[in-house]
Amino acid sequence: MTRHSDTVDADPPLRLLRRELAAPLVNNVAMGETALAPEVLHEDVSFYRDPARFASELQAFYRDMPLVACLSSQLSEPGAFRTFDDAGVPMLLTRGKDGQVRAFLNICLHRGSRVVREECGNASRFTCRFHGWTYDNSGKAIGIPGEERFNDEIGANKQLVECPAEERHGLVFVRTVPGSEMDLDAHLAGIGQDLAAIGLEEAQIVHNDVLDVDANWKYGLDTFFETYHLNSLHFETFKGLFSPICVFDTFGPHHRYTFAPLGIEDWPGMAPSEWALDTIPLQYFLFPNTILSVGSTSRTGLTVNIHQIFPRSSDHFTSRLSFCAIGGIHSDEHRAEVERSYQTARAALVNEDYSVAAETHSGLVALPPGTTLPVGKQEVGVWNFHRNVTSRLEPAG
Ligand code: FES
Ligand SMILES: [Fe+2]
Repeated sequence: MTRHSDTVDADPPLRLLRRELAAPLVNNVAMGETALAPEVLHEDVSFYRDPARFASELQAFYRDMPLVACLSSQLSEPGAFRTFDDAGVPMLLTRGKDGQVRAFLNICLHRGSRVVREECGNASRFTCRFHGWTYDNSGKAIGIPGEERFNDEIGANKQLVECPAEERHGLVFVRTVPGSEMDLDAHLAGIGQDLAAIGLEEAQIVHNDVLDVDANWKYGLDTFFETYHLNSLHFETFKGLFSPICVFDTFGPHHRYTFAPLGIEDWPGMAPSEWALDTIPLQYFLFPNTILSVGSTSRTGLTVNIHQIFPRSSDHFTSRLSFCAIGGIHSDEHRAEVERSYQTARAALVNEDYSVAAETHSGLVALPPGTTLPVGKQEVGVWNFHRNVTSRLEPAG
């Protein structure tokens, strides 16, 4: 993506980005148009319910691709550690004295026990509870009770198994396969420029929820990827806050939604310098499972709502919700605003989007094999997501 050159240098990067995105959005509003897929997709119900397909998805998307494991701010100090089990592989993330983030399988190489059982903390060494082997935060065994009785035959078992881990723009990415390659710049496909503008390095988590939903993981994601349901399902929660009009852009398998904020219907008649750029909400999807919802930048600050979806089976997923204030909470007014925003977002998610997903799944399972369901052109994010999932699972022909 290129940036317009007529920007005001003093503006923060996120405002510059919104300035660039505003023109096509206002054009859509003026024309009464919205982003559309090029065709209607007739999706087979097996997309959501086939266990064999599910096994391929786990391998292709949760093993063979980089995943966001946490925010950099959740591993902020040297010595910080976190366990990360959501992807189905027990992992330990550490930040060393050198500032480097590392990822290991959280598996003791004596007899396979978990080395670290706490969710997070700060420690320079970890002791396995089973027989007391102790590792430092670079994964090296530095204390082995009764080591002489192993006859110097431990060798490589003195080092926890390492996995790729790297930070970009305030996010920690890992791959769950030891010894694999991770080319993050290639993976991000240009969306990193936008991520850099958000300022996630300064994100402080204000609320953290884990939700379990009886539905296929892709159906959970689908609910984020279209505004067609805005005025029906979210009639109460988001009433009047947004319009279904949007602009949709892709970066490799990832995407960006630019939403129309409150009052935008007046913008076509105004000079661009009068547009309330800071009110434009943005939503990013980092394939395969992470959504960053960037709220309006208000007088009090900016919130970013991070949703991550982790499959458990073809019929069940876990959703991790991290509600963040960029730069933390800095006034009572800010706290009250963040709180209101969190309560609305959580209510919409639990009582509306995921409620529909859960009650729909049993219906999808009951439909006759071969049934297809139409994804309209206005459900462009769903169309794009399904296209990426399907093309990445099908062997290249
Ligand atoms: S399994 Fe960890 S010390 Fe034995
Ligand atoms: Fe929704």
